[in-house]
Amino acid sequence: MASEIRFFELNTGAKIPSVGLGTWQSEPGLLGAAVAAAVKIGYRHIDCAQIYGNEQEIGLVLKKLFEDGVVKREELFITSKLWCTDHAPEDVPAALDRTLQDLQLDYVDLYLIHWPIRMKKGSVGFKPENLLQPDIPSTWRAMEALYDSGKARALGVSNFSSKKLQDLLEVARVPPGVNQVECHPSWQQTKLRELCKSKGIHLSGYSPLGSPGTTWLKSEVLKLPILNMVAQKLGKTPAQVALRWGLQMGHSVLPKSTHEERIKENFDVFDWSIPEDLFAKFSEIEQARLVRGKSFAHETLSPYKSVEELWDGEI
Ligand code: A2P
Repeated sequence: MASEIRFFELNTGAKIPSVGLGTWQSEPGLLGAAVAAAVKIGYRHIDCAQIYGNEQEIGLVLKKLFEDGVVKREELFITSKLWCTDHAPEDVPAALDRTLQDLQLDYVDLYLIHWPIRMKKGSVGFKPENLLQPDIPSTWRAMEALYDSGKARALGVSNFSSKKLQDLLEVARVPPGVNQVECHPSWQQTKLRELCKSKGIHLSGYSPLGSPGTTWLKSEVLKLPILNMVAQKLGKTPAQVALRWGLQMGHSVLPKSTHEERIKENFDVFDWSIPEDLFAKFSEIEQARLVRGKSFAHETLSPYKSVEELWDGEI
């Protein structure tokens, strides 16, 4: 019997469900139905962010799901993220309050610094002239106050390199519980994974299917020969194999879909597993980061002159 891997434990003792519904680029109008379908299928983890611009739509559907008795608040694990324009310590609590208001919740289960990037307050878009020098220690202290208040039951970061995570660990009173980063068979995060493991930080994988719908990323992840070979052998889809690989690697996965059939397919990853001999072959896959954060690097206007600096060479 395959191990189910339904949850991972955070350093707070909380359980993070291993499969969460991603909501980045979810089509407005379809997202609400997708969240409702996911919860009815059994998803208990929704990955949100203020910058996705859809937390109000999610809040409306969550309210209805609670009212209809489909699920209780305490059964759900809701993540949201602090956007780059709100890094000033005095802006951090207001940003979470806005998210909580939109989601119609009084707490999130996990609140993340979305990027190690700071932008001018109120600025819109990714123009290099809006970039400022981040001050992660002071932003983190404001995050810690949200943890103390109970409005954020766990804290974490996203898109942090091993170095940036290590720097944060040196100053954090409340250590981050999660680093949410791009992770799939073509970008396995080998170095960061080791660091996270040694420090008891949970790695959560976004774009676990390689974001095939994001045309500017030119992703080939679901076309990888090994995924297709394993899928064929096991009678599963390449998407399911990519997700199950993630669970067996020990990280949670956040696949996005607004199609009920796929939402169901992506959750059917618990009562089977990739056998060891096939699993071992994944380490041979050529590695390349898809989400490079090019708009955050600039020779003169950004604190990061290049994407190499943004990721501290992990690229
Ligand atoms: P859609 O939302 O139209 O179903 P990622 O989570 O890696 O960012 O990938 C999300 C993209 O993958 C979306 O374009 C989504 O399309 C598509 N997708 C989600 N689930 C599957 C699946 N099981 N098979 C193929 N494509 C999928």
